[in-house]
Amino acid sequence: MAALPESERVLVIDFGAQYGQLIARRVREQNVFCQIVRHNITPDRVRELQPKGLILSGGPASVYEPGAPRCDPAIFDLGIPVLGICYGLHLACQVLGGEVKPATNREFGRAHCHVTEADGLFAGVPEESVVWMSHGDQVQTVNGEFVAMASTDTCPVAAARHRTRPIYGLQFHPEVSHTAYGSRILRNFLYEVCGCQGLWRMQKFLEQTVDDLRHRIGKHRVICGLSGGVDSSVTAALLVRAIGPQLACILVDNGLLRQGEVEAVNRTFRDHFHADLHVVDAHERFLQALAGIADPQEKRRLIGHVFIDVFKDEAKRIENAKFLAQGTLYPDVIESGAIGDGPAATIKTHHNVGGLPKELGFELVEPLKDLFKDEVRRLGKELGLPEELVWRHPFPGPGLAVRCIGPVTFERLEILRKADAILLQELKQAGWYRQTAQAFAVLLPVQTVGVMGDGRTYENVIALRAVQTEDFMTADWSQLPYDLLAKISTRIINQVSGVNRVVYDISSKPPATIEWE
Ligand code: XMP
Repeated sequence: MAALPESERVLVIDFGAQYGQLIARRVREQNVFCQIVRHNITPDRVRELQPKGLILSGGPASVYEPGAPRCDPAIFDLGIPVLGICYGLHLACQVLGGEVKPATNREFGRAHCHVTEADGLFAGVPEESVVWMSHGDQVQTVNGEFVAMASTDTCPVAAARHRTRPIYGLQFHPEVSHTAYGSRILRNFLYEVCGCQGLWRMQKFLEQTVDDLRHRIGKHRVICGLSGGVDSSVTAALLVRAIGPQLACILVDNGLLRQGEVEAVNRTFRDHFHADLHVVDAHERFLQALAGIADPQEKRRLIGHVFIDVFKDEAKRIENAKFLAQGTLYPDVIESGAIGDGPAATIKTHHNVGGLPKELGFELVEPLKDLFKDEVRRLGKELGLPEELVWRHPFPGPGLAVRCIGPVTFERLEILRKADAILLQELKQAGWYRQTAQAFAVLLPVQTVGVMGDGRTYENVIALRAVQTEDFMTADWSQLPYDLLAKISTRIINQVSGVNRVVYDISSKPPATIEWE
């Protein structure tokens, strides 16, 4: 039997790095499976996981601080190749005998790296290149055990290797895109030092996951909640591939979805995949619950409750259902602190409304729990999901309710839906949709004066929001071209009755959030 994609794995040992997940993603981009583990992982557990290599992440601490995180030094004796990044380099040197000091000239950001040992880790990297630094400490001297491989103007040991063991370290961050040859350096580590072959391929993951799902599910039925978003759609498409008619999908139409969304889900899942799709039209129940409510958290709470009730009612109608499929991704697993070896919980990316309680009594199936978002998109393509769905922006569980500032009514939702559809259509047509991470319209609870023909109007304001972000924790507003903004504004004011003014939100996160509520 061919080797499984995960049989060739690299572990990122996490020391509280800002860029831990990015390191793992970059490794996977090189077709090597990569998992993040906590710094206190035991040498026995490492041995059990049989990694081809270990990457010690960066971290904010200084190795000389009391309480600074460290790993069991016996990990260095396992004979597994190690790459220490920044703090990881400092730690490796400290454990194995180099000297680390606060740098006299602190180097943050862009620096020029001068390579003195051009093979191995630096094969194919020019003698001079730009790298990205972000720590106050540096390795000052390397003793007999280590050899310096690169320097910058102010950092004598920008890279080092152990004389006899496959242990390497970098003061700079190869995982950030500002380091010009970062991917090449990581690739050299994975393929030249660790001897990886590149087994992590989406096609293989797909075949193996389909086999696993069939084996686990047997003859039972599985329920999958569809939201129209990428994660639930890919989960459902994967299950259709694995178990076909044993899957039942539930789409709760809460009346808070964007224009054309229910039709698009129907087209993809009912018409194309021939899935057993249950669309529950519950918009009246949701609107009744939301009547007169303006407080955002109260809106979220009510929507969450009604969703669970509606979902439960529909799920009861599906006989012999034993499993519930969810589109949990690897970052959710890491951030919830749910895995034994995983790094400690960090900040949750968003307030998850639309989740289902455990008491529903189903066993969970989470086939995407090892994947990052970009991998889920690739898997979606592999499964034949339409391009438009695979690249869809994230959409909050409470939907348009949190973009309809103030009380939510059917009429106000219709205004918002139409304006939002125009915005998205124009962004797509201008090639800007994929260049923004999230874009939407917001209906404000204020009326302003306008003139139309000879008469004065007193109507609604639509705010447009478009942001650029990698992780949704911080975001910049998108610098959309003026002529595109003008076109969107003109179309909304001319075509959406009830709107006489359009404004563009130019706030970044922080201090603003992406959503308005
Ligand atoms: P903020 O507005 O906090 O949003 O900057 C960050 C990301 O989270 C999404 N978001 C939500 N997602 N339920 C969700 O499922 C929610 O209640 C919710 N609120 C915000 C938001 O769209 C953005 O992608």
